[in-house]
Amino acid sequence: MDQINDLDLYERHVQALFAAIDRHQNDSSDEQWTRVFDLQPLFYNMSLDVMSEMLYGYSVHSQNPSERVELPELTGHEPPDRENIGMHMDAGKAWIETRGALWKYRWLLPVKQFNEHCAAIHKYAEWFVQLRLTRGGEYLDGLQHQGGQPHGDRYVLLNELAKVTQDPVELRSQTLNVLSAGRDTTAALLGWIVYFLARHPKVQLKLRYEVLIRFGPYVSGQPSGIEFKKVRDSLPYMNAVINETLRMAPVVPLNDRISLRDTVLPRGGGDDRTEPILVPKGTQILIPTYALGQRPDLWDFDPDEFRPERWMEDGKRKFGFEFVPFGGGLRQCLGQQLARIKSAYVITRILQRYDTIENAESPPDAPIRFHHTIENRSGSGVQVKLRKAKWTLQLQRRWEAKNEQQRLEIH
Ligand code: HEM
Repeated sequence: MDQINDLDLYERHVQALFAAIDRHQNDSSDEQWTRVFDLQPLFYNMSLDVMSEMLYGYSVHSQNPSERVELPELTGHEPPDRENIGMHMDAGKAWIETRGALWKYRWLLPVKQFNEHCAAIHKYAEWFVQLRLTRGGEYLDGLQHQGGQPHGDRYVLLNELAKVTQDPVELRSQTLNVLSAGRDTTAALLGWIVYFLARHPKVQLKLRYEVLIRFGPYVSGQPSGIEFKKVRDSLPYMNAVINETLRMAPVVPLNDRISLRDTVLPRGGGDDRTEPILVPKGTQILIPTYALGQRPDLWDFDPDEFRPERWMEDGKRKFGFEFVPFGGGLRQCLGQQLARIKSAYVITRILQRYDTIENAESPPDAPIRFHHTIENRSGSGVQVKLRKAKWTLQLQRRWEAKNEQQRLEIH
């Protein structure tokens, strides 16, 4: 939870996201609008930057490589390849997906390329592990001024884990586990939220209203002033939009369990499947998260509708095992709160800065497409045009003029 409260970390990477969006700014006279572009890859870059900083202290800065902190010398080890780690993760995952689809015939696939991607990812993590083991408590020293702010004392997962174990393989595996579990899932969720907002202008308007009432407009060059606790507790419609997005397009659409002993489940047996059913030891059970979200009897008989209001009707909708986008039980997602708060924060900042997210997919009513490489992202990307809010532009100009004035005074 401490890490979630590191607001500065998120805001720095959101600012880099905005700079990346600004590169899609319209060249014509209408400077409020961006051109049509795909927002999805930008979310993946941002998520990689945030996660690599949280886990290892040193962000990959895929959004802005010039921000990369110079790495300290580590004798006998080549510096990690920060440039290509995202590519290796994407390619490695695509292999895992294909192997999964081939099931027991996966041995048919050549493994050379897959092994190369895995080796590159291991090498990346191992460098930080070795640095931590060599430097001990001074691991964070090189990070004193990342992003211009003092950061030497913050929570970095590798640094904390190394207080408990010095086993390099354990440290590598634990951090890579969280990296792969947290990076693409959150990016895909952000993509899907914007995907649905762009197609549902009324929902977009209502959500933007909630955000502006709660946090006011975007002001360039100033800290957002938003506390994560407030993001979590004071945006009920945002929470409804996130839930509805996860119902319509679950980031993890399928999960499974293997029964460790003979078990009786309360329903699923008998002619009408409402009787108890025996699950013998060793049985694999698939959990169809996506299909559960499409059942008319569970979702007000309109499961095809993107309708966040369903989460707020009759007080507040409580959910149980019919809604399991983060899994359930003892092994459920450890990062659920982080993912929800981070997504809400990023969407809040976007809605403060832009007053319109326009759907730019061609044709605009193209059917939804799922692209599944372990996590489920939009198969057609997130094709949008964004319009900067008027006051954002005015405040930005004032801020730039002030900066320029200060620069002239200094020289
Ligand atoms: C939208 C974002 C996310 C979704 C939809 C998601 C979904 C899931 C799901 C379905 C599982 C399997 C749970 C089960 O089998 O019951 C899982 C496990 C896990 N997730 Fe997430 N996750 C997300 C973000 C994150 C983030 C941001 C982190 C970490 C920073 C994270 C860390 C983990 C870990 C460590 C596990 C394994 C837990 C265990 O096996 O004990 N996840 N996640």
